[in-house]
Amino acid sequence: MERIRVGTIGSGGIVQAVHIPQLLSHGKVDFAWCADVDETTARTAAGKAGAPNWGTDYRKLLQEYPVDAVTVGTTHVAHFDAVMAALEAGVHVCCEKPLAMSVAEAEAMTSEARRRGVITFVPFSYWFVPAARLLKDLIDEGFLGRLTHVNGYYGQGNAFGDGPMRWRFQKAIAGSGALGDLGSHLISLTHLWGGRIVRLTAHMKTFVHDRVIEGTSERAPVDVDDDVQVIGELENGALINLSASRTYAGRANFQRVEVSGFEGGAVYDNSHRAQLEVCLGTPWARWNQWTTMQALPRHHLTQMHVFADAILAGTAPEAVLPNFQVGLEVQRVMESIERSAISGQWVEL
Ligand SMILES: NC(=O)c1ccc[n+]([C@@H]2O[C@H](COP(=O)([O-])OP(=O)(O)OC[C@H]3O[C@@H](n4cnc5c(N)ncnc54)[C@H](O)[C@@H]3O)[C@@H](O)[C@H]2O)c1
Repeated sequence: MERIRVGTIGSGGIVQAVHIPQLLSHGKVDFAWCADVDETTARTAAGKAGAPNWGTDYRKLLQEYPVDAVTVGTTHVAHFDAVMAALEAGVHVCCEKPLAMSVAEAEAMTSEARRRGVITFVPFSYWFVPAARLLKDLIDEGFLGRLTHVNGYYGQGNAFGDGPMRWRFQKAIAGSGALGDLGSHLISLTHLWGGRIVRLTAHMKTFVHDRVIEGTSERAPVDVDDDVQVIGELENGALINLSASRTYAGRANFQRVEVSGFEGGAVYDNSHRAQLEVCLGTPWARWNQWTTMQALPRHHLTQMHVFADAILAGTAPEAVLPNFQVGLEVQRVMESIERSAISGQWVEL
C-alpha cells in the first residue's frame, strides 16, 4: 500500500487539533471525508483535512466513499456504535480514549476487531511523550531493578469556577468524569511502565455539584467525579498510588509520576517532555543523587504516524500499541475503580 485514505467520525476538538494535523504531516495520508452530528463541525474539519466530502451520517459516508481507516473522536457514549460500524466496513480503526462506556462494550469492540484482523489504536497520547518512552526503556533494560512504586498524579483545574454544563460533566454521555478523562491516561502510563494492575481500592469525589445550562439561568446536576484516588498493586508486586483530578488549583494539564525500584528511580513530569529526573545505580541510590537524562532520538514518535505507518507496513495488529487490547485493560481498571469507590471494598482484577 502506497497511501491511505482516512475518514473521521466525530470531528470536533481532538480530531481537528491532533488527528488531522498529525495525519496530514505524515505525507502518505489522504482524507476522504469528515463526519460529525454537527454539520458545521464536519464541514470545518473537512476544510482543515482537505477532505472533499463531509456529512452527518458516518454510515452513509463509509458506504459511499470507501476508506482504509477511520479515526473516532466522538463523545464517549458514541464510540461503540462508530467503531462497530467501521469494523463492519472492514477498516482499520483508531478510537479515542477511554475506549468505551463499559468493559462489556470494550470487550465486544476488541473481539470484533480481532475477528476482522484489522489494526486498532487508542491514542493514549502520553505514551508518545519522549520522556515516557525513555522511562519505559530504562525499566525494560532493568536499570530501576524490581519495581516497588508507581506514584503519580494528573491534575487539571477545569472544574473550578462556574463554567457551564458540558458533556464531560454528564454520566450518560461521558461515562465518568476525571476517571475516564484523566485517570485513563494515568492508568495507561502505569500499564506501559509496570504492567497490569491486579488489585485496588479507590475513592471518587465530586466537588462542584451543578452547573448552569448554557443560555439559560437553570442549573443541571454534575453526576460524574471531579477527582479519583486509587491505591493498589501491580502483577509484578509493585504498589501504585494514583490521583486524577479536575480540581488542582493552578494546573492546566500537569502530570508527575515517580517510579521507583530496588536499583533506582525516575520522575516523569509532562512539563519537561524530553527529559527525566533519574537516580540510577547503586552509588546514586545510596547517596540520594539525582540527575537529568535526555530522551534519545528513537523516543520521539508522532502518535498518529505510528497508526498510519502500521497500516502502510501491514504490521500485525497485536504489535501496534496502544491497541484496543490496552484500551480494554484500562477499561477493566476503570470499572474496578468505580466498583471499589461505590462499595468501599478492595477489588481483585
Ligand atoms: N488523547 C487525548 O489526549 C485526548 C484529549 C482530548 C480529548 N480526547 C478524547 O477525544 C474524544 C472527543 O473529545 P473532544 O475533546 O474532541 O470533544 P468535542 O466535544 O470537541 O468533540 C466531539 C465531537 O463528536 C461529535 N459527536 C457526538 N456524537 C456523535 C455521533 N454519534 N456521530 C458523529 N459525531 C458525534 C460532536 O458533535 C463533537 O463535534 C473523547 O473520547 C475524549 O476523551 C482525547
